[in-house]
Amino acid sequence: MADFGLSERTVVVTGSATGIGRATIDAFAAEGARVVAVDIEFDVLSEHIVEAGLQQLITPVHADLSTADGVAGAAAEAIRLSGGAPDVLVNNVGAGRLKTFEELTDDDFHRTFELNFFSMVRMCRAIVPEMYAAGRGAVINVTSDLSRQAEDTIVDYAASKAAVASVAKSLARAYAPRVRVNNVAPGPIWTPFWTDESTGWLKNLEAAYGAKGEAAVQAFIEDRGIPAGRMGEPEEVANAILFLASDLAGFTTGSTLGVDGGTVRATF
Ligand SMILES: NC(=O)c1ccc[n+]([C@@H]2O[C@H](COP(=O)([O-])OP(=O)(O)OC[C@H]3O[C@@H](n4cnc5c(N)ncnc54)[C@H](O)[C@@H]3O)[C@@H](O)[C@H]2O)c1
Repeated sequence: MADFGLSERTVVVTGSATGIGRATIDAFAAEGARVVAVDIEFDVLSEHIVEAGLQQLITPVHADLSTADGVAGAAAEAIRLSGGAPDVLVNNVGAGRLKTFEELTDDDFHRTFELNFFSMVRMCRAIVPEMYAAGRGAVINVTSDLSRQAEDTIVDYAASKAAVASVAKSLARAYAPRVRVNNVAPGPIWTPFWTDESTGWLKNLEAAYGAKGEAAVQAFIEDRGIPAGRMGEPEEVANAILFLASDLAGFTTGSTLGVDGGTVRATF
């Protein structure tokens, strides 16, 4: 296993009960970091921590991060549990509904932005100035390949992630050199984002391609043109997050690291 030199660092990860967030808290814990894991699914999160035997390193915190009060409470608790400003903040929480532009209501846009965009803005407002005062910090936002290369659907989701990337750029400038702010932009990653029975995008793929399960996924991979020829794994995103959190990335700020199997054609 790689050693990113993160032992004893204090880390806050939002949206950590499943998927990329879960892989990220596990990876930080494997490094010996002390993690505050925030999620609305407190029971799922707590059960995972116990099953993994990581109670000494990971503390679960319950919050609805789609509200200002929820983020304020989570941020205050994270600072308390970290004994001051955490060393690392990972703004991972996010969700999206697969809808066409015409299906998307104003309410859909607002809901998407409350969770994907304002959770990041509010967490950063509460924690980044504390990091700056403490003299060090690293923020990693989980955006999306769609933030760099929009498709013709999921417009609200892509816009919210592009907005996160823009704010990240501003914060990277405003709080340099003490606090580094970067984004990881995943392509399609095999998580409950796709597989969840009520909200997962797999059922949209099945409807779109007239195929079931693996066959629908293969049709999507070909249609989307993922050069890697597969979906990504949450651990592959977690590895990129750990790198950006570490001192190995000391000269990297205001950047976006794609973990997308080559989906993005742009050269930036
Ligand atoms: N999976 C992909 O293909 C993919 C691609 C690009 C970007 N992303 C991004 O990666 C991040 C993680 O997604 P994932 O794929 O691991 O999905 P996921 O659904 O497994 O994880 C999302 C987590 O956020 C939590 N959450 C949802 N709403 C919440 C709320 N209101 N308050 C607190 N917690 C809440 C969920 O309980 C879950 O633990 C998201 O920001 C997503 O947009 C995912």
